[in-house]
Amino acid sequence: MFKQHPPAPLPADGVAAAMAPFGQSRMLPREAYVDPAVFAWEQQHIFSGWTCVGHASDLAAVGAQKAVGTGANAVLLVRGEDTVRAFANTCRHRGHELLACNATTRGRSIVCPYHSWSYRLDGSLRNAPHFSKVEGFQPDEFGLAELRLVNWHGWLFVDPSGEDADFAEHVAGWEDVVAPYRPEDLVVVDRHSYELETNWKVIAENYQECYHCSTIHPELSRISPPTSGENLATAGSWMGGWMSIIEGAETMSLTGASGGVAIKGLSEHELHTVMYVVGYPNLLVSLHPDYVMTHLMTPLAVDRTHVECAWAFPTEAAEKPGFDPSYAVDFWDLTNRQDWAACESVQRGLASQHARPGPLAPDEDGVYQFVSRVAKAYSGGAARG
Ligand code: FES
Ligand SMILES: [Fe+2]
Repeated sequence: MFKQHPPAPLPADGVAAAMAPFGQSRMLPREAYVDPAVFAWEQQHIFSGWTCVGHASDLAAVGAQKAVGTGANAVLLVRGEDTVRAFANTCRHRGHELLACNATTRGRSIVCPYHSWSYRLDGSLRNAPHFSKVEGFQPDEFGLAELRLVNWHGWLFVDPSGEDADFAEHVAGWEDVVAPYRPEDLVVVDRHSYELETNWKVIAENYQECYHCSTIHPELSRISPPTSGENLATAGSWMGGWMSIIEGAETMSLTGASGGVAIKGLSEHELHTVMYVVGYPNLLVSLHPDYVMTHLMTPLAVDRTHVECAWAFPTEAAEKPGFDPSYAVDFWDLTNRQDWAACESVQRGLASQHARPGPLAPDEDGVYQFVSRVAKAYSGGAARG
């Protein structure tokens, strides 16, 4: 699973400092957040492996199509008669994108907008206008390039490289943590789309610590003590940990009350905690007693990231007449905006020539887990699995 890659274009001593033991390590070199060359390297060596591209319910009906991401790892997701497939978003004729990034459509075939080549939902070429006259043209040689895709608890993951470790290895240790919440059975009731002027890693690092909570999240800190909980040690690429909900509160909301119902079958511990999971590299999963929130990050540039936040609830709640998800949505939208302001400020601060990689506090062990994993990839080690 430890694939070798060329190291990232970063000072080797800075990368090594980020991998020093916790307590002595430093943050990643500043260039990791501001240099487009590092961003390009990450696209080639981190985002080319298992990456979340959305939720299966984004493609509910047969013929549904959605384009995700841009550049080398652009993907076209298609719901066929039997299953969802992922293809490289590039036409086999002259390379036009089959669908613009983030666009959705639905049809019995995949039609290229340039010269109207059309493909069946399984990616095989159906029709290339005027090619019936071309001698020796073999339609079966021009099917779309299919990518490895896994539907894990309703989330879709692709491996554009085709060379990453088995998905089970990538996600090792998290099946037992995530499965009790049955995310595949929950209904996405609301989504917010944010475009942030910050590097994707700043968002993941911010998600991994509550050292900032008492300063910028007064509402959250009232419901979930910032120093509570612990991080889990697991074998795969994912990381995370839990925090507790104060006694008397049911969930994360402004009042601590739930407007929904608890997810069936959760343990006492799960009913009184929130589990925060970083699905490395780009999916953040927050497992609450009564809902699951995800932040799906799509890096757009070294200093720009699209984040889609989705809230999913048990059907018993979602289908209740007049169900109002705002107790969860408003709470996290407020918290998100507090976080985004901090993340964008970090990005602006890192633009300074005088910015130097700082040390991590004892409460920032989650940040260390993330940063040291990225640093390992930068060093040419385990870029993916
Ligand atoms: S590039 Fe797609 S039909 Fe020509
Ligand atoms: Fe925060």
